[in-house]
Amino acid sequence: MDKKVFQFPKDFIWGAATASYQIEGAWNEDEKGESIWDRFSHTPGMVQDGDTGDMACDHYHRWEDDLEMIKKLGLKAYRFSTAWPRVLPSGSGSVSEAGLEFYSRLVDGLLKLDIEPYVTLYHWDLPQKLQDKGGWPARETADAFVEYVDMITRVLGDRVKNWITLNEPWVSAFVGYRDGRHAPGHIDLHEALAASHHLLLAHGMAVPVIRSNSRDANVGITLNMSPQYPASSSVADRAAATWGDGYINRWFLDPLTGRGYPQDMVDSFGDEMTFVQPGDLESAAVPLDFIGVNYYTRNIARSEKVSEAENAPQTVFRSDEITEMDWEVFPEGLYKTLGRLYFDYDFPVIHITENGAAFNDQVGADGEVDDPARLSYIKRHLEQVHRAIEAGIPVKGYFAWSLMDNFEWGYGYSKRFGLVYVDYQTQQRIIKSSAKWYQRVIETNAVE
Ligand code: FCB
Repeated sequence: MDKKVFQFPKDFIWGAATASYQIEGAWNEDEKGESIWDRFSHTPGMVQDGDTGDMACDHYHRWEDDLEMIKKLGLKAYRFSTAWPRVLPSGSGSVSEAGLEFYSRLVDGLLKLDIEPYVTLYHWDLPQKLQDKGGWPARETADAFVEYVDMITRVLGDRVKNWITLNEPWVSAFVGYRDGRHAPGHIDLHEALAASHHLLLAHGMAVPVIRSNSRDANVGITLNMSPQYPASSSVADRAAATWGDGYINRWFLDPLTGRGYPQDMVDSFGDEMTFVQPGDLESAAVPLDFIGVNYYTRNIARSEKVSEAENAPQTVFRSDEITEMDWEVFPEGLYKTLGRLYFDYDFPVIHITENGAAFNDQVGADGEVDDPARLSYIKRHLEQVHRAIEAGIPVKGYFAWSLMDNFEWGYGYSKRFGLVYVDYQTQQRIIKSSAKWYQRVIETNAVE
Protein backbone atom coordinates (compact mmCIF):
# COMPACT_ATOMS: atom_id res chain seq x y z
CA MET A 1 0.00 0.00 0.00
CA ASP A 2 1.25 3.48 -0.83
CA LYS A 3 2.09 5.51 2.22
CA LYS A 4 0.93 9.11 2.13
CA VAL A 5 3.77 11.61 2.06
CA PHE A 6 3.18 15.12 3.36
CA GLN A 7 5.71 17.33 1.65
CA PHE A 8 6.34 20.71 3.32
CA PRO A 9 7.16 24.05 1.64
CA LYS A 10 10.81 24.51 0.79
CA ASP A 11 11.58 27.18 3.38
CA PHE A 12 9.62 25.63 6.24
CA ILE A 13 11.32 26.28 9.59
CA TRP A 14 11.89 23.15 11.66
CA GLY A 15 12.82 23.83 15.24
CA ALA A 16 12.64 22.88 18.87
CA ALA A 17 12.06 25.04 21.93
CA THR A 18 13.23 25.44 25.52
CA ALA A 19 12.99 28.09 28.24
CA SER A 20 15.67 29.52 30.52
CA TYR A 21 14.38 28.43 33.93
CA GLN A 22 13.51 24.98 32.67
CA ILE A 23 16.99 24.11 31.43
CA GLU A 24 19.73 26.49 32.56
CA GLY A 25 20.33 25.74 36.24
CA ALA A 26 23.13 27.93 37.68
CA TRP A 27 20.39 29.77 39.51
CA ASN A 28 22.75 31.87 41.60
CA GLU A 29 25.93 31.84 39.57
CA ASP A 30 27.87 34.81 38.31
CA GLU A 31 25.70 37.76 39.12
CA LYS A 32 22.32 36.23 38.39
CA GLY A 33 19.52 37.63 40.55
CA GLU A 34 16.76 35.57 42.11
CA SER A 35 13.64 35.02 40.01
CA ILE A 36 10.10 34.37 41.13
CA TRP A 37 10.59 30.75 40.08
CA ASP A 38 13.67 30.42 42.28
CA ARG A 39 11.64 31.75 45.19
CA PHE A 40 8.60 29.63 44.38
CA SER A 41 10.46 26.37 43.90
CA HIS A 42 12.45 26.98 47.10
CA THR A 43 9.19 27.35 49.01
CA PRO A 44 8.21 23.94 50.42
CA GLY A 45 5.08 22.44 48.95
CA MET A 46 4.93 24.51 45.79
CA VAL A 47 6.56 22.14 43.29
CA GLN A 48 6.02 18.38 43.08
CA ASP A 49 8.63 16.37 45.01
CA GLY A 50 10.29 19.62 46.08
CA ASP A 51 12.05 19.86 42.72
CA THR A 52 13.77 23.12 41.80
CA GLY A 53 15.46 24.55 38.73
CA ASP A 54 18.72 25.03 40.68
CA MET A 55 20.51 22.59 38.41
CA ALA A 56 17.86 21.67 35.80
CA CYS A 57 19.69 20.43 32.67
CA ASP A 58 22.81 22.35 33.66
CA HIS A 59 22.59 23.98 30.26
CA TYR A 60 24.37 27.10 31.56
CA HIS A 61 27.54 24.98 31.69
CA ARG A 62 26.80 22.44 28.98
CA TRP A 63 25.53 24.80 26.30
CA GLU A 64 28.33 23.98 23.88
CA ASP A 65 27.51 20.27 23.94
CA ASP A 66 23.83 21.10 23.70
CA LEU A 67 24.48 23.14 20.57
CA GLU A 68 26.26 20.16 19.04
CA MET A 69 23.23 18.06 19.87
CA ILE A 70 20.90 20.60 18.24
CA LYS A 71 23.07 20.48 15.16
CA LYS A 72 23.08 16.72 15.14
CA LEU A 73 19.29 16.68 15.18
CA GLY A 74 19.36 18.81 12.05
CA LEU A 75 17.25 21.60 13.53
CA LYS A 76 17.05 24.73 11.39
CA ALA A 77 15.95 26.93 14.27
CA TYR A 78 16.16 26.95 18.05
CA ARG A 79 13.77 28.81 20.30
CA PHE A 80 15.11 29.65 23.75
CA SER A 81 14.43 32.35 26.30
CA THR A 82 16.68 34.83 28.02
CA ALA A 83 16.40 35.07 31.80
CA TRP A 84 15.69 38.64 32.80
CA PRO A 85 17.40 38.33 36.24
CA ARG A 86 20.52 36.94 34.58
CA VAL A 87 20.83 40.15 32.57
CA LEU A 88 19.45 42.66 35.09
CA PRO A 89 19.80 40.96 38.48
CA SER A 90 17.46 43.40 40.22
CA GLY A 91 15.11 43.72 37.27
CA SER A 92 16.30 47.21 36.39
CA GLY A 93 19.38 49.30 36.97
CA SER A 94 22.69 47.50 37.03
CA VAL A 95 23.48 45.07 34.25
CA SER A 96 25.31 41.77 34.51
CA GLU A 97 27.98 41.52 31.83
CA ALA A 98 28.33 37.81 32.53
CA GLY A 99 24.64 37.29 31.80
CA LEU A 100 24.79 39.23 28.56
CA GLU A 101 27.90 37.37 27.49
CA PHE A 102 26.28 34.02 28.11
CA TYR A 103 23.49 34.78 25.65
CA SER A 104 25.82 36.46 23.24
CA ARG A 105 28.02 33.35 23.07
CA LEU A 106 24.97 31.14 22.70
CA VAL A 107 23.74 33.19 19.75
CA ASP A 108 27.17 33.19 18.11
CA GLY A 109 27.39 29.44 18.63
CA LEU A 110 24.03 28.90 16.95
CA LEU A 111 24.83 31.13 14.00
CA LYS A 112 28.13 29.39 13.51
CA LEU A 113 26.24 26.12 13.16
CA ASP A 114 23.76 27.76 10.82
CA ILE A 115 20.86 27.51 13.25
CA GLU A 116 18.47 30.44 13.44
CA PRO A 117 17.88 31.75 16.97
CA TYR A 118 14.29 32.56 17.99
CA VAL A 119 14.52 34.42 21.25
CA THR A 120 11.70 34.67 23.79
CA LEU A 121 12.28 37.66 26.04
CA TYR A 122 10.05 36.54 28.86
CA HIS A 123 9.27 32.93 29.70
CA TRP A 124 8.05 33.45 33.26
CA ASP A 125 11.21 34.10 35.30
CA LEU A 126 10.47 37.58 36.59
CA PRO A 127 13.19 39.08 38.82
CA GLN A 128 12.08 38.56 42.43
CA LYS A 129 13.05 42.17 43.20
CA LEU A 130 10.30 43.30 40.83
CA GLN A 131 7.81 40.93 42.39
CA ASP A 132 8.70 42.50 45.74
CA LYS A 133 7.59 45.81 44.25
CA GLY A 134 4.28 44.37 43.08
CA GLY A 135 5.16 42.15 40.11
CA TRP A 136 2.97 42.15 37.00
CA PRO A 137 -0.05 43.62 38.79
CA ALA A 138 2.08 46.80 39.11
CA ARG A 139 2.31 49.04 36.06
CA GLU A 140 5.99 49.84 36.71
CA THR A 141 6.86 46.25 35.83
CA ALA A 142 5.94 47.02 32.23
CA ASP A 143 8.42 49.93 32.23
CA ALA A 144 11.10 47.69 33.70
CA PHE A 145 10.42 45.13 30.98
CA VAL A 146 11.04 47.75 28.32
CA GLU A 147 14.34 48.67 29.98
CA TYR A 148 15.39 45.01 30.00
CA VAL A 149 14.29 44.47 26.41
CA ASP A 150 16.14 47.57 25.28
CA MET A 151 19.30 46.34 26.99
CA ILE A 152 19.25 42.84 25.57
CA THR A 153 18.13 43.74 22.05
CA ARG A 154 20.88 46.35 21.83
CA VAL A 155 23.39 43.61 22.51
CA LEU A 156 21.88 40.75 20.47
CA GLY A 157 19.86 42.72 17.93
CA ASP A 158 22.53 42.66 15.25
CA ARG A 159 22.46 38.85 15.18
CA VAL A 160 19.03 37.76 16.40
CA LYS A 161 16.30 38.48 13.85
CA ASN A 162 13.33 36.70 15.38
CA TRP A 163 11.93 37.93 18.68
CA ILE A 164 9.06 36.79 20.84
CA THR A 165 8.16 39.32 23.53
CA LEU A 166 6.21 37.07 25.90
CA ASN A 167 5.49 33.39 26.25
CA GLU A 168 1.88 32.61 27.17
CA PRO A 169 0.91 35.76 29.09
CA TRP A 170 -2.33 33.97 30.00
CA VAL A 171 -0.34 31.51 32.09
CA SER A 172 1.79 34.24 33.67
CA ALA A 173 -1.31 36.19 34.67
CA PHE A 174 -3.91 33.59 35.55
CA VAL A 175 -1.92 30.56 36.66
CA GLY A 176 0.54 32.78 38.55
CA TYR A 177 -1.85 35.31 40.13
CA ARG A 178 -5.31 33.70 40.09
CA ASP A 179 -4.79 29.97 40.47
CA GLY A 180 -1.55 30.16 42.44
CA ARG A 181 -0.15 27.04 40.78
CA HIS A 182 2.77 28.97 39.30
CA ALA A 183 5.07 31.63 40.71
CA PRO A 184 4.42 33.90 42.50
CA GLY A 185 1.59 31.68 43.75
CA HIS A 186 -1.07 34.30 44.41
CA ILE A 187 -4.80 33.67 44.37
CA ASP A 188 -6.46 36.95 43.45
CA LEU A 189 -8.53 37.59 40.33
CA HIS A 190 -8.02 41.35 40.41
CA GLU A 191 -4.26 40.89 40.51
CA ALA A 192 -4.47 38.43 37.63
CA LEU A 193 -6.44 40.88 35.50
CA ALA A 194 -4.06 43.72 36.28
CA ALA A 195 -1.15 41.39 35.48
CA SER A 196 -2.66 40.46 32.13
CA HIS A 197 -3.10 44.12 31.28
CA HIS A 198 0.46 45.07 32.20
CA LEU A 199 1.81 42.10 30.26
CA LEU A 200 -0.05 43.33 27.18
CA LEU A 201 1.19 46.84 27.81
CA ALA A 202 4.76 45.63 28.28
CA HIS A 203 4.50 43.73 25.01
CA GLY A 204 3.10 46.73 23.15
CA MET A 205 5.75 49.10 24.46
CA ALA A 206 8.59 46.66 23.81
CA VAL A 207 7.83 45.97 20.14
CA PRO A 208 8.98 49.36 18.75
CA VAL A 209 12.08 49.20 20.97
CA ILE A 210 13.00 45.81 19.53
CA ARG A 211 12.44 47.07 16.01
CA SER A 212 14.70 50.05 16.56
CA ASN A 213 17.50 47.91 18.05
CA SER A 214 17.26 44.99 15.66
CA ARG A 215 16.97 46.00 12.04
CA ASP A 216 14.67 43.98 9.81
CA ALA A 217 13.72 41.74 12.69
CA ASN A 218 10.49 39.78 12.90
CA VAL A 219 8.68 40.44 16.12
CA GLY A 220 5.80 38.48 17.59
CA ILE A 221 4.25 37.14 20.77
CA THR A 222 3.42 33.57 21.78
CA LEU A 223 -0.02 32.62 23.09
CA ASN A 224 -1.29 29.32 24.40
CA MET A 225 -4.50 28.39 22.64
CA SER A 226 -7.00 25.67 23.26
CA PRO A 227 -10.18 25.31 21.22
CA GLN A 228 -13.32 24.82 23.27
CA TYR A 229 -15.82 22.13 22.36
CA PRO A 230 -19.22 22.12 24.08
CA ALA A 231 -19.82 18.79 25.80
CA SER A 232 -23.32 18.71 24.33
CA SER A 233 -25.39 21.03 22.19
CA SER A 234 -27.24 22.38 25.24
CA VAL A 235 -27.40 26.14 25.69
CA ALA A 236 -25.54 25.80 28.99
CA ASP A 237 -22.63 23.85 27.48
CA ARG A 238 -22.36 26.19 24.54
CA ALA A 239 -22.23 29.11 26.95
CA ALA A 240 -19.48 27.29 28.89
CA ALA A 241 -17.50 26.87 25.69
CA THR A 242 -17.90 30.55 24.82
CA TRP A 243 -16.73 31.47 28.31
CA GLY A 244 -13.72 29.14 28.07
CA ASP A 245 -12.83 30.60 24.71
CA GLY A 246 -13.11 34.13 26.06
CA TYR A 247 -10.92 33.26 29.00
CA ILE A 248 -8.15 31.29 27.34
CA ASN A 249 -8.14 32.54 23.77
CA ARG A 250 -9.92 35.86 23.25
CA TRP A 251 -8.72 37.62 26.41
CA PHE A 252 -5.33 38.15 24.76
CA LEU A 253 -6.12 37.75 21.06
CA ASP A 254 -8.71 40.52 21.01
CA PRO A 255 -6.64 43.31 22.57
CA LEU A 256 -3.61 42.28 20.51
CA THR A 257 -5.60 42.76 17.32
CA GLY A 258 -7.23 46.06 18.23
CA ARG A 259 -10.57 44.72 19.41
CA GLY A 260 -10.04 45.60 23.06
CA TYR A 261 -11.03 43.29 25.89
CA PRO A 262 -13.98 41.02 25.05
CA GLN A 263 -17.00 42.60 26.72
CA ASP A 264 -18.60 39.28 27.72
CA MET A 265 -15.49 38.48 29.75
CA VAL A 266 -15.21 41.94 31.28
CA ASP A 267 -18.83 41.53 32.45
CA SER A 268 -18.18 38.04 33.71
CA PHE A 269 -15.09 39.05 35.72
CA GLY A 270 -16.99 41.98 37.19
CA ASP A 271 -13.81 43.98 37.86
CA GLU A 272 -13.67 47.73 37.36
CA MET A 273 -10.36 47.32 35.50
CA THR A 274 -9.27 50.78 36.62
CA PHE A 275 -5.71 49.88 35.66
CA VAL A 276 -6.54 50.45 31.98
CA GLN A 277 -5.29 53.91 31.04
CA PRO A 278 -5.96 55.90 27.88
CA GLY A 279 -3.72 54.74 25.04
CA ASP A 280 -2.89 51.36 26.59
CA LEU A 281 -5.05 49.34 24.23
CA GLU A 282 -3.67 51.17 21.19
CA SER A 283 -0.21 50.34 22.41
CA ALA A 284 -1.06 46.65 22.95
CA ALA A 285 -2.43 46.39 19.41
CA VAL A 286 0.87 47.19 17.68
CA PRO A 287 1.00 45.25 14.38
CA LEU A 288 3.13 42.11 14.57
CA ASP A 289 5.19 40.21 12.04
CA PHE A 290 3.94 36.90 13.32
CA ILE A 291 1.90 35.20 16.00
CA GLY A 292 3.39 32.27 17.87
CA VAL A 293 0.98 29.63 19.08
CA ASN A 294 1.54 26.89 21.62
CA TYR A 295 -0.92 24.07 21.11
CA TYR A 296 -1.22 20.95 23.24
CA THR A 297 -4.87 19.95 23.56
CA ARG A 298 -8.51 21.02 23.35
CA ASN A 299 -11.00 21.53 26.13
CA ILE A 300 -14.44 19.97 26.34
CA ALA A 301 -16.66 22.49 28.10
CA ARG A 302 -19.35 21.16 30.44
CA SER A 303 -21.46 23.73 32.22
CA GLU A 304 -20.99 24.10 35.96
CA LYS A 305 -23.96 26.43 36.14
CA VAL A 306 -26.62 23.77 35.65
CA SER A 307 -26.73 20.36 37.29
CA GLU A 308 -26.13 17.15 35.35
CA ALA A 309 -29.85 16.38 35.70
CA GLU A 310 -30.88 19.70 34.18
CA ASN A 311 -28.29 19.61 31.42
CA ALA A 312 -28.59 17.62 28.20
CA PRO A 313 -26.67 14.31 28.22
CA GLN A 314 -23.03 14.74 27.32
CA THR A 315 -22.33 13.77 23.73
CA VAL A 316 -18.71 14.89 23.23
CA PHE A 317 -16.07 12.99 25.20
CA ARG A 318 -12.30 12.85 25.39
CA SER A 319 -10.72 10.09 23.42
CA ASP A 320 -8.87 7.60 25.60
CA GLU A 321 -5.54 8.73 24.27
CA ILE A 322 -4.19 10.85 27.08
CA THR A 323 -0.65 12.09 27.80
CA GLU A 324 1.16 12.09 31.16
CA MET A 325 -0.17 15.63 31.70
CA ASP A 326 -3.67 14.16 31.51
CA TRP A 327 -4.15 16.08 28.26
CA GLU A 328 -6.18 14.52 25.46
CA VAL A 329 -4.33 13.92 22.20
CA PHE A 330 -6.41 15.91 19.73
CA PRO A 331 -4.47 16.85 16.58
CA GLU A 332 -7.43 18.30 14.74
CA GLY A 333 -7.61 21.08 17.32
CA LEU A 334 -4.35 22.42 15.95
CA TYR A 335 -5.85 22.74 12.49
CA LYS A 336 -8.85 24.53 13.91
CA THR A 337 -6.62 26.87 15.92
CA LEU A 338 -4.42 27.77 12.97
CA GLY A 339 -7.46 28.50 10.81
CA ARG A 340 -8.86 30.79 13.45
CA LEU A 341 -5.65 32.78 13.80
CA TYR A 342 -5.62 33.42 10.09
CA PHE A 343 -9.26 33.65 9.06
CA ASP A 344 -10.66 35.35 12.17
CA TYR A 345 -7.65 37.34 13.34
CA ASP A 346 -5.72 37.89 10.14
CA PHE A 347 -2.16 37.31 11.41
CA PRO A 348 0.19 37.48 8.43
CA VAL A 349 2.48 34.66 9.60
CA ILE A 350 1.99 31.90 12.13
CA HIS A 351 4.66 29.90 13.91
CA ILE A 352 3.82 26.95 16.09
CA THR A 353 6.22 27.86 18.87
CA GLU A 354 5.38 24.79 20.98
CA ASN A 355 3.70 21.44 20.45
CA GLY A 356 4.58 18.15 22.05
CA ALA A 357 3.68 15.59 24.67
CA ALA A 358 4.87 14.16 27.97
CA PHE A 359 5.13 10.41 28.28
CA ASN A 360 6.70 8.16 30.83
CA ASP A 361 9.89 7.43 28.89
CA GLN A 362 12.22 4.68 30.02
CA VAL A 363 15.80 3.92 29.14
CA GLY A 364 15.84 0.40 27.68
CA ALA A 365 18.35 -2.35 28.46
CA ASP A 366 20.18 -1.31 25.29
CA GLY A 367 20.53 2.22 26.64
CA GLU A 368 18.09 3.61 24.07
CA VAL A 369 14.84 5.48 24.65
CA ASP A 370 12.02 4.34 22.42
CA ASP A 371 9.04 6.73 22.49
CA PRO A 372 6.57 5.74 19.78
CA ALA A 373 3.69 7.61 21.44
CA ARG A 374 5.53 10.93 21.17
CA LEU A 375 6.51 10.21 17.59
CA SER A 376 2.90 9.49 16.76
CA TYR A 377 1.73 12.65 18.56
CA ILE A 378 4.11 14.88 16.63
CA LYS A 379 3.44 13.10 13.36
CA ARG A 380 -0.29 13.53 13.57
CA HIS A 381 0.02 17.17 14.56
CA LEU A 382 2.35 17.81 11.65
CA GLU A 383 -0.22 16.28 9.34
CA GLN A 384 -2.65 18.91 10.59
CA VAL A 385 -0.05 21.61 10.01
CA HIS A 386 0.30 20.37 6.47
CA ARG A 387 -3.45 20.39 6.06
CA ALA A 388 -3.53 24.02 7.23
CA ILE A 389 -0.82 25.03 4.78
CA GLU A 390 -2.79 23.36 1.99
CA ALA A 391 -5.80 25.41 3.03
CA GLY A 392 -3.76 28.58 2.48
CA ILE A 393 -2.94 29.34 6.12
CA PRO A 394 0.53 30.93 6.36
CA VAL A 395 2.16 28.56 8.84
CA LYS A 396 5.90 29.05 8.46
CA GLY A 397 7.49 27.21 11.34
CA TYR A 398 7.10 24.40 13.85
CA PHE A 399 9.00 24.15 17.14
CA ALA A 400 8.70 20.90 19.04
CA TRP A 401 8.38 21.22 22.79
CA SER A 402 10.90 20.40 23.92
CA LEU A 403 14.45 19.96 22.78
CA MET A 404 15.16 17.95 25.92
CA ASP A 405 13.43 16.80 29.10
CA ASN A 406 13.40 19.60 31.62
CA PHE A 407 11.84 21.22 34.68
CA GLU A 408 8.12 21.14 33.99
CA TRP A 409 7.09 23.98 36.34
CA GLY A 410 4.74 22.77 39.10
CA TYR A 411 5.38 19.15 38.11
CA GLY A 412 9.13 19.38 38.53
CA TYR A 413 11.04 16.65 36.72
CA SER A 414 8.15 14.19 36.72
CA LYS A 415 7.03 15.03 33.18
CA ARG A 416 9.28 14.37 30.21
CA PHE A 417 8.55 16.37 27.06
CA GLY A 418 11.95 16.06 25.39
CA LEU A 419 13.04 14.84 22.00
CA VAL A 420 16.17 14.10 23.97
CA TYR A 421 16.13 12.22 27.28
CA VAL A 422 17.98 13.73 30.22
CA ASP A 423 19.34 11.61 33.04
CA TYR A 424 19.23 14.15 35.87
CA GLN A 425 21.76 12.23 37.98
CA THR A 426 24.50 12.25 35.38
CA GLN A 427 23.22 14.94 32.99
CA GLN A 428 23.66 12.44 30.19
CA ARG A 429 21.57 13.19 27.08
CA ILE A 430 20.06 10.31 25.07
CA ILE A 431 18.48 10.99 21.70
CA LYS A 432 15.03 9.40 21.74
CA SER A 433 13.61 7.55 18.75
CA SER A 434 11.13 10.40 18.16
CA ALA A 435 14.10 12.73 17.67
CA LYS A 436 15.64 10.39 15.13
CA TRP A 437 12.35 10.34 13.29
CA TYR A 438 12.12 14.16 13.47
CA GLN A 439 15.65 14.40 12.13
CA ARG A 440 14.48 12.50 9.06
CA VAL A 441 11.41 14.75 8.70
CA ILE A 442 13.73 17.75 8.60
CA GLU A 443 16.11 16.08 6.18
CA THR A 444 13.39 15.15 3.71
CA ASN A 445 11.19 18.16 4.51
CA ALA A 446 8.34 15.70 4.66
CA VAL A 447 6.23 13.65 7.03
CA GLU A 448 5.75 10.06 5.92
C1 FCB B 1 3.78 25.52 28.05
C2 FCB B 1 5.04 26.25 28.46
C3 FCB B 1 6.29 25.43 28.37
C4 FCB B 1 6.08 24.00 28.77
C5 FCB B 1 4.86 23.41 28.11
C6 FCB B 1 4.58 21.98 28.43
O1 FCB B 1 2.68 26.08 28.70
O2 FCB B 1 5.20 27.40 27.68
O3 FCB B 1 7.27 26.08 29.12
O4 FCB B 1 6.04 23.89 30.14
O5 FCB B 1 3.73 24.17 28.40
